[in-house]
Amino acid sequence: MIKEELFIEAKKTFAEKYGQPHTIASFAPGRVEIIGNHTDYNEGFVVSSAINYGIFFLLAPNGLDHSRVFCGRTQEHATFQMANLDLGLDGGGWAKYIYGSIVELLKGSDGVLPEIDAMILGDIPLGSGLSSSAALEVATAFAVAKLGNISKTNLEFAKIAQAAEHTYAGVMCGLLDQLSSIYGKENQLIMTDFRSIEVENLPLGDDASFIVCNTKVKHALVDGEYNERRESCEKAAEFFKEKLGDRISTLRDVTSAELEQYAGEMDPIAAKRAAHVIGECERVLAGKKYLDEGKIEKFGQLMYESHDSSINNFENSCPELDFVVEASKSIPGVMGARLSGGGFGGSAVLLVHPRNAQTIGKALANAYENEMGTDCEIYYVKAFSGATVL
Ligand code: GLA
Repeated sequence: MIKEELFIEAKKTFAEKYGQPHTIASFAPGRVEIIGNHTDYNEGFVVSSAINYGIFFLLAPNGLDHSRVFCGRTQEHATFQMANLDLGLDGGGWAKYIYGSIVELLKGSDGVLPEIDAMILGDIPLGSGLSSSAALEVATAFAVAKLGNISKTNLEFAKIAQAAEHTYAGVMCGLLDQLSSIYGKENQLIMTDFRSIEVENLPLGDDASFIVCNTKVKHALVDGEYNERRESCEKAAEFFKEKLGDRISTLRDVTSAELEQYAGEMDPIAAKRAAHVIGECERVLAGKKYLDEGKIEKFGQLMYESHDSSINNFENSCPELDFVVEASKSIPGVMGARLSGGGFGGSAVLLVHPRNAQTIGKALANAYENEMGTDCEIYYVKAFSGATVL
């Protein structure tokens, strides 16, 4: 299943732009985090889903001495040389994810790839917390690997894309976004154990669907806040390692009871960050059980608890997200809601019955505009298949 119309537009634009058709195309979807917040880099659990919004990456060898990339939405260009990747990128923003993925993909391989003309076209709202950057990294890695006949496992691809994010965007993210973009399945959620990297697809019954509400808020210093949260978690894990020994390597290994026992001895901020992660891991496991048993409303309740913990413990929410989650509680038919992804702005995800989705989406958009005096964006997301070479 791909996005036919967007693909046609991408092919047409490529041919017009470069005067020849593309030879390789890939597609990678964005993702929504359903529950399990900031647990991935703590080797915990997450339920996520690839979504029906994504990015196409098209390329063709160009016979020139440099490669050119073009963004179909912003009409911006960038260039680099496959033959001299260490000379860097001429261009910025979106292009650094492309360049970064190529550098990471080709690390350790000898042989030079031909210079290419490439283009991206996508429909994931940027900066919305739906992982447009991960989709771009993954789409790039898939298409360029095809060009070079480079074979990688899905996990290796996810790590290549993550390394691009670490090095070229400076965000020390976990593997959630890249992995979700790769492992998505139509009508199925993705449950991941981020220690063993075992991925299980969970069928999403006919009674559940998700609405994403993009607040369009992106607070400054988000990336710094993210990295700072990650460091706090690592410090908290160190504390527990000292207390409880080597069976602790990350916060995933600490139980709520142990946290309660030692919280008084901890730096209060570290204790709150730990409470979030430990609570989220427990909520994901409980939530998976509810999904297996078809207890969707109970699952929704856990989403509300997750958001409360973001407000009180992890402090990664913001007034706009809090408004969406609070307002959702008085819209009939909403079963649960929480912020999705890194936080500090971006999107909230709502669990609803598919038959109510449109009515709920409209009610929420109205409530948001009345309260905030500015609009939000509503997306009816579907669990979608993962990245692919077309
Ligand atoms: C961002 C990161 C992910 C994950 C989430 C929070 O999306 O890229 O790795 O940590 O935040 O769960």
